[in-house]
Amino acid sequence: MPLPVLPGHPHFSYQGNALFAEAMRVSELAATYGTPLFIYSKAAMLSALAAYQRGFEGRDAQICYAMKANSSLAVLQVFARAGCGFDIVSGGELERVQAAGGDVRKVIFSGVGKTRAEMRQALAAGIGCFNVESEAELDVLSGVALEMKLRAPVSIRVNPNVDPKTHPYISTGLKGSKFGVAHEDALRIYQHAASLQGLKVVGIDCHIGSQITEATPYLDAMDRMLDLVAAIEAAGITLAHIDFGGGLGINYNDDTPPEADALWRQLLAKLDARGYGGRKLMIEPGRSLVGNAGICITEVLYLKPGEQKNFCIIDAAMNDLPRPAMYQAFHAIVPVEALAPKAEGVVYDVVGPVCESGDWIGRDRVLDVAPGDQLAVMSAGAYCMSMASNYNTRGRAAELLVDGDVARLIRERESAADTFRGELLLP
Ligand code: LLP
Repeated sequence: MPLPVLPGHPHFSYQGNALFAEAMRVSELAATYGTPLFIYSKAAMLSALAAYQRGFEGRDAQICYAMKANSSLAVLQVFARAGCGFDIVSGGELERVQAAGGDVRKVIFSGVGKTRAEMRQALAAGIGCFNVESEAELDVLSGVALEMKLRAPVSIRVNPNVDPKTHPYISTGLKGSKFGVAHEDALRIYQHAASLQGLKVVGIDCHIGSQITEATPYLDAMDRMLDLVAAIEAAGITLAHIDFGGGLGINYNDDTPPEADALWRQLLAKLDARGYGGRKLMIEPGRSLVGNAGICITEVLYLKPGEQKNFCIIDAAMNDLPRPAMYQAFHAIVPVEALAPKAEGVVYDVVGPVCESGDWIGRDRVLDVAPGDQLAVMSAGAYCMSMASNYNTRGRAAELLVDGDVARLIRERESAADTFRGELLLP
């Protein structure tokens, strides 16, 4: 079989028949650290970030990495050191930012269900902004801030009611979504926010969905948001910043999302045309910064030929790579070493050891493999480790960060004992 091409992965490549992560041979890393193993490329993260930085050159813009995509501490360090803030959705994520040395003043706190304790924690830490998602949350936040003799900086997440044309589970800006407040209620809710003593209105935000591969939904959402900014400011409420959320897609298969800088050239042209070019801008990208900076290495355990299907059973599973089971997502699966290519591959369903029919990683894949071979599941930097679980008492995988010819262990493989730490036996 010919070597597969690796679209969207400039920092992973074949040299000869061997897959490399930057300058490191993947098979050697897997031999040292075992499988399943996540391998991230620092250069890939920084070059994804650079595309945004180019797009925003000369502008007053803050990139807040949406850390839910991959919240491993060393990954956060990479982005914190590059000047990023963080979009968080829990008190736990705030603690991660602090543990990684991130700047809490550049933290924005999103999410529909912030608890009072999380509000207190974030206020005490001095985060930059609460992205409030309901009127009820405004009242509670104001009360919590007043108890602490503080004023909470707030932005309200508005649903521009634009279809991002992505998987329904990751569409968030439509009517009927649990997120944000309706566009038509926004002005009234802003007036309510401005009347609350414990709040200081600082911005407006939206996030229309994830894995968006076209510019049009963003351009439409921007128009809808700017209409609102005009109306809110006409009512005497100043919005120091506008936050356009995250959502830009990556190339998993034949996806052709715009590059971040090209997208932002278009968006900034619209902002300029409408007179908002000098406004402080915020964005919350997650997947597009890390998705194609990571791969997951797995070993083929068994081949199981069948009448209707051939199964390739690997040592990674839905607990490590939940996206196929959750969203029928496609991840390319390629050989780590293709040393003796046979004439043709065989069509397999690539499945894990978990006791669920939904535990598949790839369907109908042509592979030329034998037990003991290693495979790389591509585009595994976003929403894989951060969504991993211990289902079937499987310890979570180890993670490596490669920087040129240096590979650093950034997460130890979890042992079974780690998975039941904190559980208590009956007397
Ligand atoms: N901001 C907010 C308020 C969000 O809810 C999200 C993602 C982001 C930013 C970052 O979006 P991104 O740039 O990564 O698209 N687990 C799903 C994706 C869920 C996205 C949730 N919100 C998946 O694996 O496809």
